Amino acid sequence: MPQVLISASILNADFGRLDRVVHKLERAGVDRIHLDVMDGHFVDNITFGPDLVAAVRRLTRLPLDVHLMISEPARHVERFIAAEPQTITFHVEAPESEERKDAALHAIRAAGQGAGLAVSPATAVDAVADRVDELDVIMIMTVEPGWGGQGFIADMAPKIGQARALLAAAGRGGLVHVDGGVNHRTAEVVGRFGIDVCVVGSALFQRGRDASEEVEAVRDSVLRGRLAMASASAEV
Ligand code: DX5
Ligand code: ZN
Repeated sequence: MPQVLISASILNADFGRLDRVVHKLERAGVDRIHLDVMDGHFVDNITFGPDLVAAVRRLTRLPLDVHLMISEPARHVERFIAAEPQTITFHVEAPESEERKDAALHAIRAAGQGAGLAVSPATAVDAVADRVDELDVIMIMTVEPGWGGQGFIADMAPKIGQARALLAAAGRGGLVHVDGGVNHRTAEVVGRFGIDVCVVGSALFQRGRDASEEVEAVRDSVLRGRLAMASASAEV
């Protein structure tokens, strides 16, 4: 199993110095940059749009993961595709017709980008089952979408295993992302369920703690979880 990938959320970063933030994250050894787009309608918070994604695209060669917490994702998806991220994930709960959700996934994939669906805590992973053949990402929310720095909801962790099983059964090489409250203390449990990508936000911007320490500590925690999972299944 390849090493877990760390996708750094810049939601809690200083947007006034985006160049410094992105280069600091590169030096810290993150694998990807996670961009939280919020419209003030699907979630109460408002953050940024495709122009900021394009600005980050110009700053780094790291893969960009766009996380759309917006209503009507199909209406806006073309502008995010044009910003050239590696993946675009929107919420299965988003107010939008089913046909237009399918169209949005098709448009993302037709552009050669990875298409994803995110499930909020109240939503079962089964909600994405009928679209699994179209998915490169299933994103498991371990906080209510809308804000960084919230507490990790451990009860959500088993959904990671369910999402991995869905992707495996479909024979897709898709990846499971976990998003919300992930840090070196909570990452072991997501490792137990076989996570592929950990989104880490506020834990990377702790005053007095070097981001690279947190990146390494999260990787170590996930590895401990994976080893625990492997030894538990060996005992069966
Ligand atoms: C929350 C966002 C997450 C969040 C992660 O709605 O989707 O990406 O910013 O930040 P932390 O790691 O601080 O929960
Ligand atoms: Zn996110």
